Amino acid sequence: MIVILDLGSEQNAQIAREVRALGVYSEIHPHDITADQLKALPGVRGIILNGGKNRVVDGAAIDAGEAVYQSGLPLLTVEHTAGSDLDRWPADDAERRDCLSRFVFGRCGAAANWNMKNFIDDQVELIRRQVGERQVLLALSGGVDSSVVAALLIKAIGSQLTCVHVNHGLLRLGEPEQVVEVFREQLHANLIYVDASKRFLDKLAGVAEPEKKRKIIGTEFIRVFEEEARRLQGIDFLAQGTIYPDIVESGTKTAKVVKSHHNVGGLPEDMQFELVEPLKMLFKDEVRACGVELGLPEGMVYRQPFPGPGLGVRCLGAITADRLEAVRHSDAILREEFAAAGLDRTVWQYFTVVPDLKSVGVRDNARCVEYPVILRAVNTVDAMTATVEDVPFPLLQKITARIVSEVAGVNRVLYDLTPKPTATIEWE
Ligand code: XMP
Repeated sequence: MIVILDLGSEQNAQIAREVRALGVYSEIHPHDITADQLKALPGVRGIILNGGKNRVVDGAAIDAGEAVYQSGLPLLTVEHTAGSDLDRWPADDAERRDCLSRFVFGRCGAAANWNMKNFIDDQVELIRRQVGERQVLLALSGGVDSSVVAALLIKAIGSQLTCVHVNHGLLRLGEPEQVVEVFREQLHANLIYVDASKRFLDKLAGVAEPEKKRKIIGTEFIRVFEEEARRLQGIDFLAQGTIYPDIVESGTKTAKVVKSHHNVGGLPEDMQFELVEPLKMLFKDEVRACGVELGLPEGMVYRQPFPGPGLGVRCLGAITADRLEAVRHSDAILREEFAAAGLDRTVWQYFTVVPDLKSVGVRDNARCVEYPVILRAVNTVDAMTATVEDVPFPLLQKITARIVSEVAGVNRVLYDLTPKPTATIEWE
């Protein structure tokens, strides 16, 4: 592997991805890595000293330790200066690729053997070694990361894995059914399906404040999962879909903490599990490639991001059964039409929102007072800012016609033209 040493750069992950794109595995490590830590990493062929604008800490520039300079390994120094061309390091840049390639293959003599098939073979071996004959539990949301972890663990340890899929009643049309079909019927997983819809909706009844809704959904999710975990005997491991950005974004020694990575299980302390996190060194696109290699359906692997609180934050204000149904049904129409137009692979995130207000309309020559549906389709790299997709007008008209005729209680459709900022991607 090639080690990327973080000397205050904001592009550690980008360089790591570029090295991996050459077919050579790479990992990011802190600048003060010790000789022992370096020795413990398997097969290190070279080190990239990756400096950048956070290099100066408390008035002094940080540098790699003696361990690095005395390792005898080939070193490449990269310095990104704010405002320079290097600062952006464009991905399509042949000169940059050449430079990395000369270092990785020429000076380090690395072999291009990093691919998904080898990754899966290695992980299967590692998981078997870690788990032995014991039992593993996984909260399977149906999202990309937990689905790929499930598929990998099924391949490695089969029936020693128990998956719990909690339907909180705020999933999209067909989602829980797909999880059951793929994991129970096709992959023969031990899958416990918990339909907790009523329980969640009862708890949420009358709650209009968005953060309160989120909290109720998060807390209740952990309760349901915990109840299922307690019912099972002899579980030693909890599997998690932690991926590399979760670790990188937790903050290195020089970068600001972007967001703290926390244990998604959130289980109480008296339930002691060891963690199995087989994807923790993969970037999102690599997780998807791994899922495809493991035979998961493309619709599951390439699905758009979906927030944990699900449709709960798209049915604005206090959730009611009629508006929740309107969000679910209109979302299904939007997804169907985007897929038919080929936009499902290019637009980052698209969904519908139903606010808690009605407007006057006319239906069958009579006045009707019904809800509007808001369409939203955005593109972003990191979800911190977002631009609005320029959806062709005829497609918007087609989606509008379908929604007002097929979704009960909806007489109006709007397209949200606001980028982030000032809007956020979600409405709540
Ligand atoms: P905002 O609305 O903050 O959304 O611009 C940025 C991205 O985060 C997703 N999102 C969430 N994801 N739990 C999640 O797991 C949440 O509570 C949550 N809120 C927003 C949102 O869908 C978008 O992709």
